[in-house]
Amino acid sequence: MSDRRNVTPNDLSAFWMPFTANRQFKKAPRMFVGAKDMHYTTSDGRKVLDGTAGLWCVNAGHCRPKIVEAIQEQAAELDYAPAFQMGHPKAFELANALVSFAPQGLDHVLYTNSGSESVETALKVALAYHKVKGDAGRFRLIGRERGYHGVNFGGISVGGIVTNRKMFGTLLTGVDHMPHTHTPGKNQFTRGEREAGGEDLASELERIVTLHDASTIAAVIVEPVAGSTGVLIPPKGYLKKLREITKKHGILLIFDEVITGFGRLGTPFAADYFGVTPDILVTAKGLTNGVIPMGAVLVSSEIHDAFMQGPEHVIEFMHGYTYSGNPIASAAGLATLETYKDEGLLTRGAELAPYWADALHSLKGLPHVIDIRNLGLIGAIELEPIAGQPTKRAFSAFVKAFETGILIRTTGDIIAMSPPLIISKAQIDELIGTLGSILKTLE
Ligand SMILES: Cc1ncc(COP(=O)(O)O)c(C=O)c1O
Repeated sequence: MSDRRNVTPNDLSAFWMPFTANRQFKKAPRMFVGAKDMHYTTSDGRKVLDGTAGLWCVNAGHCRPKIVEAIQEQAAELDYAPAFQMGHPKAFELANALVSFAPQGLDHVLYTNSGSESVETALKVALAYHKVKGDAGRFRLIGRERGYHGVNFGGISVGGIVTNRKMFGTLLTGVDHMPHTHTPGKNQFTRGEREAGGEDLASELERIVTLHDASTIAAVIVEPVAGSTGVLIPPKGYLKKLREITKKHGILLIFDEVITGFGRLGTPFAADYFGVTPDILVTAKGLTNGVIPMGAVLVSSEIHDAFMQGPEHVIEFMHGYTYSGNPIASAAGLATLETYKDEGLLTRGAELAPYWADALHSLKGLPHVIDIRNLGLIGAIELEPIAGQPTKRAFSAFVKAFETGILIRTTGDIIAMSPPLIISKAQIDELIGTLGSILKTLE
């Protein structure tokens, strides 16, 4: 194996890095060269405790043997099979395994290669569903302010992050947004979901329906818990009310569970946690433990069956990717689901959540901390921005954390954490204890 250590900044120019301050990074690179279970290894040989499961995806921890072996074996046995008009067994096995623990009624799976592609797929299914049902007037898609649904055109259109939208022209037309679920300056330091305001917030959808008329609206898409914009926990009753309103008006409800899926809230999906079943459920990340790019969109039988008509030799849905259900990704997915099952990881978050919440909220009162939010094994610490220099304080916490030996994530001036679901209580103490000491040193 080649020695990957001591990569010098001179080598770094060709790769235009994603969602990264490239010039800053390349002056002082932060490189991982290895990983095992809860830790990364840096290029200078240090261990870093993973407080973010990579990018919310390595739910079973790193380099897990079953997953590694499955990928190695599959690569040697069947590396690639055409995805269109041909099949291979593992893609079917994985779909069956997925629907076996998905919320009841979500019985069919379309594969993708990422969360962004899963979102595009879900939006296209929703639009096409109404067409095949003869309800072609339903062309509008409703998202939410501060929503993140990946980076493709559909996703940034329904998403609600101005910096991700403003450079890219007109985006999709026929899109509107509900208000986000955050109440800055109110309800700070609430543990879990706040009690009040859920129904009222969800009722904002009724206003949008009244404005556009239900007959023009195809679908509403939300993250059950908005992650990328800083862990915004919905108030109690919010998602139930959204479900009620969408059902009443014949509008499809899409849950983007790219980060909340696969045990993050202590249940297999957030749909289980909140007791609300959407018509379409979008996944990626934890599906393969982040190891091989893969996403899956779960749809109800009602949606699937609506497409299964007309002559049998005709393709029912004109959509798919070269790598949909790729053999190696499918093998990784199957081994990941087995690992989750063997180790009870899809529900372990429920046991750890109170301990996690106590640890997080112990940081209340430290300098600059203006809010702390938590749900399942997700946590956020919001910092007061430095006047005139938003994002700088949290970013400096991130760099110090990396240097001290913990990996956190920041978005704006919010520190977000979502550790692998195998984290121990001692590691929670280490993660939060280290972060606490760093917060005390911040300018
Ligand atoms: C809710 C949600 N949807 C979609 C995506 C996009 O996933 P990907 O980066 O795999 O395209 C993300 C990524 O963080 C996400 O959090």
